[in-house]
Amino acid sequence: MTAPAVEAHAAWLGYPALAAGDARDAIAAACARVTVRGDSPTLRHAGSELATGLKRLLGQEVALSHGEHPGGAGVALGTTATSELAAHGVPGPEGFVLVPLRGRDGAGEGVAIVGGDERGCLYGAFALLRRIATGQGLPGEPVTEAPVAPLRMLDHWDNLDGTIERGYAGRSIFFSGGEVTRDLDRVREYGRLLASVGVNAIALNNVNVGRAAAELLTGRHLGRVARVAATLRPFGVRVALSVSFASPVLLADLPSADPRERAVGEWWRAAAARVYEAVPDLLGFVVKASSEGQPGPHSYGASQAEGANVIAAAVAPLGGVVLWRAFVYDCEQDWRDTATDRAKAAYQEFAPLDGAFAPNVALQIKNGPMDFQVREPPSPLLGAAPRTSKLLEVQITQEYTGQQVHVCYLVPLWKEVLDFDTQSRGEGSTVRETVVAGRDGTAVAGIVGVANVGDEPGWTGHLLAQANLYGFGRLAWQPSLSAEAIAREWTALTFGSDETVLDTVTGMLMDSREAYESYTAPLGLGWMVTPATHYGPSPEGYEYSRWGTYLRADRHAIGIDRGVTRGTGFTAQYHEPWRSIFEDRERCPPELLLFFHRLAYAELLPSGVTLAQHVYDTHFAGVEAVDGFIAGWERLRGRIDSARHDSVARRLRAQRESAVEWRDVINAYFHRHSGIADAAGRRLY
Ligand code: GCU
Repeated sequence: MTAPAVEAHAAWLGYPALAAGDARDAIAAACARVTVRGDSPTLRHAGSELATGLKRLLGQEVALSHGEHPGGAGVALGTTATSELAAHGVPGPEGFVLVPLRGRDGAGEGVAIVGGDERGCLYGAFALLRRIATGQGLPGEPVTEAPVAPLRMLDHWDNLDGTIERGYAGRSIFFSGGEVTRDLDRVREYGRLLASVGVNAIALNNVNVGRAAAELLTGRHLGRVARVAATLRPFGVRVALSVSFASPVLLADLPSADPRERAVGEWWRAAAARVYEAVPDLLGFVVKASSEGQPGPHSYGASQAEGANVIAAAVAPLGGVVLWRAFVYDCEQDWRDTATDRAKAAYQEFAPLDGAFAPNVALQIKNGPMDFQVREPPSPLLGAAPRTSKLLEVQITQEYTGQQVHVCYLVPLWKEVLDFDTQSRGEGSTVRETVVAGRDGTAVAGIVGVANVGDEPGWTGHLLAQANLYGFGRLAWQPSLSAEAIAREWTALTFGSDETVLDTVTGMLMDSREAYESYTAPLGLGWMVTPATHYGPSPEGYEYSRWGTYLRADRHAIGIDRGVTRGTGFTAQYHEPWRSIFEDRERCPPELLLFFHRLAYAELLPSGVTLAQHVYDTHFAGVEAVDGFIAGWERLRGRIDSARHDSVARRLRAQRESAVEWRDVINAYFHRHSGIADAAGRRLY
């Protein structure tokens, strides 16, 4: 029998029906009615989400009413401000408690969802549905949850013409034809998806802001921006805008955007007032300045802090923040200059400015020191600048990781960074505690992900790429969740509780990043992709261009020494013991050897094989892993509706084709440079 079709847009909110049986019957008896205390758009969404979700899961009508809980079985929803529920605990803003309700005889009668505020109610409603859908059932004891990251944000790289920079799932859901969308139904659906995983902010537009997008700050667009913000507000999602540092020049014909000029400060204040009049709870502005051709303070000889602070001063009285991107490097580095190292750039630029930023500025720092490669060490800037608010930035859209043609579950990669102990305040200074949870006491804290959605059915192109969006939200909420637990949760919510499906999909997701890594650039080397598109192999594509990303391969060796004793000195940006560990070939994590060290092809790796042999072995194994995914997925035919099954099967075939190309090109590259034959005698071109 073929599983029933699920609308692609439901994503993980399709709530597949539970299997019949005692467990379902008990839940059905306890959840036949939903009562919502209080009335507001957020509470109404929470109530209707519960009623429709429970109906689908349980296959029964669920009565929904607003007012006092009449007693007896049911789900009661309200905030701590609602008297009879307050006794159950005070979870704090955005948090919630799920409390089992018992009848006189002590038997389970239902659940109270008590939110620290209305957003907490909404998150609690989704949490209860998630519990039921993933087979955990109703809570036996009170369960309290609150988000770890205060800011859990998505950056959309959407352009006003509807294209998406590094987007692989169709066109923008926010813009088309130079205007902000009027399709608020789509935006509402998206808000629901975001709330279900606790995302509480989004930047609507691309960090690269051209003339057209600069105008988002003007009356021409603000009305529609306000409508989008109003649509997302009940879902607890605040909106931010990416702005051009040159706005005063572009929009008001000022002769300069020099942050030290009075007229410039005044212009930003007036602009902020106008924007906040339209969207009073706007989160603030995202700024990419003096980076990859974007205008910025450097053009005027001013510092990044002076640049950030002039905008920060304008939004501070309105409750706004400035999310200032730390992705600043010299993209025109001369190839003869071997002292400049792109990996060092963000730290070199920003660490000396610690203490110079206004309190409502946060530096938005990419997870690695380069640019979202499949394997990089954590950015050392995450462990620096203790007096500066910092946000971790990760990339959900799969720019360098297979562009939503390849399956590549990124939660394990993000967890490595979150769990990295920077040692900035001695042992126990993990990125998740200090930066993401804000335990270092700075004003703004959290995590930002570059969004992977577009207007294609299913939101993310590759269906399995939904797991990255889902995983981002879940991880931001609770970074201690395991990557595997999140993968399993997503699979159960998306496909139901068939154990074969659960095991196969979870296993495939968990192996996918390593598979992708094995057939692309080895050991943290990175940058062997086709320039500009970033899809497919081109080992020297970046070598002879201007971007400062060199591999410097010759007949003997490849890679850059980034140590202090021999190399660019990048390792000095880390606290001990990392500095020494990365510096030392023997102790450097094997998977990062070529990030930190130049290695001869004939050099023996810790695994006992030469570098060249390691490349051959991993590249053949990577394609075999994809064959395994294809075989595993084929076994699920009939257990997943054919539309979704076919769509993933098609992409897996395309992934294989690309993986074979990667394997053959990278192997040939190492073979021809090194002259080392494959010990297993496999075919090298
Ligand atoms: C990468 C990406 C760009 C993007 C940039 C950024 O370089 O290729 O498209 O603009 O990152 O993060 O700003």
